[in-house]
Amino acid sequence: MDILLIGSGGREHALAWKLTQSLHCDELYCAPGNAGIADLATCVPIDPMDNAAIVAFCREKNIDFVVVGPEQPLVNGLVDALEAAGFDAFGPTQAAAQLEGSKGFTKDLCAEYDIPTAAYQRFNNAPKAKMYVRQQGAPIVIKADGLAAGKGVVVAETVEEACEAIDACFEGSFGEAGAEVVVEEFLQGEEASLFAICDGQTAVLMGTAQDHKRVGDGDTGPNTGGMGAYSPAPVLTQELIDEAMTDIIVPTLAGMHAKGHPFRGILYAGLMLTADGPSLIEYNTRFGDPECQVLMPRLKSDLVELMLASSKGSLLELPEAEWDGRTALTVVMASKGYPGSYEKNTVIEGIEDAEKTGTLVFHAGTSRGGDGALLATGGRVLNVTGFGDSVTQAQKAAYEGVAKVRWNNGFTRSDIGWRAIAREKEST
Ligand code: AMP
Ligand code: GLY
Repeated sequence: MDILLIGSGGREHALAWKLTQSLHCDELYCAPGNAGIADLATCVPIDPMDNAAIVAFCREKNIDFVVVGPEQPLVNGLVDALEAAGFDAFGPTQAAAQLEGSKGFTKDLCAEYDIPTAAYQRFNNAPKAKMYVRQQGAPIVIKADGLAAGKGVVVAETVEEACEAIDACFEGSFGEAGAEVVVEEFLQGEEASLFAICDGQTAVLMGTAQDHKRVGDGDTGPNTGGMGAYSPAPVLTQELIDEAMTDIIVPTLAGMHAKGHPFRGILYAGLMLTADGPSLIEYNTRFGDPECQVLMPRLKSDLVELMLASSKGSLLELPEAEWDGRTALTVVMASKGYPGSYEKNTVIEGIEDAEKTGTLVFHAGTSRGGDGALLATGGRVLNVTGFGDSVTQAQKAAYEGVAKVRWNNGFTRSDIGWRAIAREKEST
């Protein structure tokens, strides 16, 4: 079948890499793609937010299946537009994508279905929100309701900081996303991510991971989209996975079904592992980036079959997905200055040398110059994924690959995987 993939990040390069290995994939197109994806697919310059243009392209090329990578097109109703035009697509409808698009929606669903999550209140004006914060005290967490590219959350150490965050939200720091604010209890514990592929009724585990959101070593400095990740996350034991599936994922699916918004696609649960068990921090309705860059290389089963079953409601008919037992660890190479401003169009060399060490290099913000040179055009630019029998070994392999990339304007964190590696050291 001919498949159209939507997106242009490292996540989409990892998806393209896996999709093209499927027996079911004849032609792969990607809108808009990047320089790495261009080696696997035909890239087409279509805006992922232009539903009409995407539908028109599907008609022109007789596309059989559309895979949507990022959250914005999902929240923008791309899957609805495609289905209305008669095309099959992987990912949730606009109504189901509210699980990511509205934190208030998700918190209300948790309350209704008794899903463990931090205590919270929703507010549409600053004075009431601040009054609640003064009652609760700090630390406390302030969240813009809508999509804010991972930047709409402030973990406030003091009541003053919380009030400033509330003002910033209502004064428009996050645009429309901040028109409503969720104030929630601060949860203590270690964070981990669990991925489930869902078909409206059934959820199947699609792996676990931990990522590193802060830009600096030791998890310091500003938040980013993610500077690295590894899978599986050993902190999520089988017992915790079962608990999260039973107490969080399954009731979410049941609740969405009961509300008339059956959830199809990837449900990515950001979990806090508290003393009382896993608690839901947030949902995303797609693969994580860079988590996808460690999940896809570990997946042995056919991705297209899983995605088709998700879209058609037939996951139960598939054999259980098979996984490579090794650990995969990815290190993000970013442009110096990220997540602030950075220089564009700097030259990168040495990708083949990195791959010769046994790593996979997934591109994010890259393009080709007129002379064929590889150029960095974004903040997060490359993901170098290494493998090993432990997180320690996978980290070593990934950084060996990183060392082969010649890019003066790039930087990485040097400690991806540190939590798990510290534990591995303790247990030897
Ligand atoms: P979110 O975008 O909701 O995942 O939040 C971003 C980050 O803020 C999370 O990865 C956590 O580190 C932190 N965070 C969010 N909610 C809470 C909470 N209730 N308690 C403690 N930390 C939180
Ligand atoms: N790595 C975090 C995310 O994809 O939201």
